[in-house]
Amino acid sequence: MAIGAAGLLVLIVALVVAEGLRQGRDAKPLPGQSLRELGQPRGLSIGTAVRVDALRNQKAYRQLVAAQFSSVTPENEMKWGLVEPERGKFRFEAADAIVDAAGSAGQAVRGHTLVYHHQLPGWLGGLGRAGLRAATEEHIRRVVGHYRGRVAVWDVVNEVIGDRGGLRRSPFAAKLGPDYIAQAFRAARRADPAARLHINEAGADAINPRSDRLYALVRSLKASGVPIDGVGLQMHVDLAGVPPTYVANLRRFAALGVELAITEADVALKLPASAADLRAQARVYRTIVRGCLAVKACRSLTFWGFTDGRSWISETRSGLGAATLLDAALRPKPAFRAVQRALRR
Ligand code: G3I
Repeated sequence: MAIGAAGLLVLIVALVVAEGLRQGRDAKPLPGQSLRELGQPRGLSIGTAVRVDALRNQKAYRQLVAAQFSSVTPENEMKWGLVEPERGKFRFEAADAIVDAAGSAGQAVRGHTLVYHHQLPGWLGGLGRAGLRAATEEHIRRVVGHYRGRVAVWDVVNEVIGDRGGLRRSPFAAKLGPDYIAQAFRAARRADPAARLHINEAGADAINPRSDRLYALVRSLKASGVPIDGVGLQMHVDLAGVPPTYVANLRRFAALGVELAITEADVALKLPASAADLRAQARVYRTIVRGCLAVKACRSLTFWGFTDGRSWISETRSGLGAATLLDAALRPKPAFRAVQRALRR
């Protein structure tokens, strides 16, 4: 049965209203200057991890990402299992949406990540040494090539050091040997000679066995002419705070002639978080910002999400949460104002 012009009009209006409801309200503007404006005169790029579903479906989230940050990192959308779920069949739609939105907002993109032992596709497990080597080269060639000129920095390898300071026993290390790291960097350089190439590490934020091993690795990669431009330190911390050797650690890496980035900062709290916890959290965030500002080579500071409504801490770590700068209703917490103040000084 034909619905006629009036019926069609009603249908269109209903669809527009439904889409409006799905997207939600506009963001309430945050007080003061944006983080990206405050970082700019300090020569510091301020970033956040982003999620494609939130960018697509929540207007306020999208507006805040564009307004507050000068760089974005896809939280999961560029990981191997998501980008190449079947061998040779690449799915770039989700990551493309993030890169396109970043382009519209005048933001840089940190590509995360090419070689990581989590979120790998199942098919990789069946490969032997030669197969894994070829698949890794091809994965890097295709992914970095796809984003050539649009992704400024790649986390080429992620978390390659184990908790005790040895090389992590990942499938890559087990099958390809330690040289897989150098090979990954060389493949990334070939695929986009202008992209800056970083090694990204967890738990190496201060001087400890893990950062000692990372330091030795970076020094030896540089000495062998491997094309590595920078080191990313993740900075997932809690109220125990940032260890006192944080700045000394940044300085020793800077002395190797690499650029530095804080790549995944968040400060987990035990739930429920008290007002005192939120103030203590603000002090930890302030220390993170000040430390990076104290070292010239530290040019980029990324938060691992900016709202407690979308944070891996509350989603995956039992009893913990409230780890980011804004609450779940996108209202600023003391941590947000502390970051603003630290950038202003
Ligand atoms: O996409 C599926 C969805 O289809 C399914 O319904 C749902 C049910 O659990 O899971 C979804 O996948 C989740 C994925 O995030 C996307 O949301 C995974 O379970 C979950 O494990 C995964 O967690 C991510 C984690 O990396 C995996 O290793 C976190 O969001 C992400 O924040 C986290 O990020 C890592 C960095 O890459 C590296 N450094 C540490 C950091 C924190 O672990």
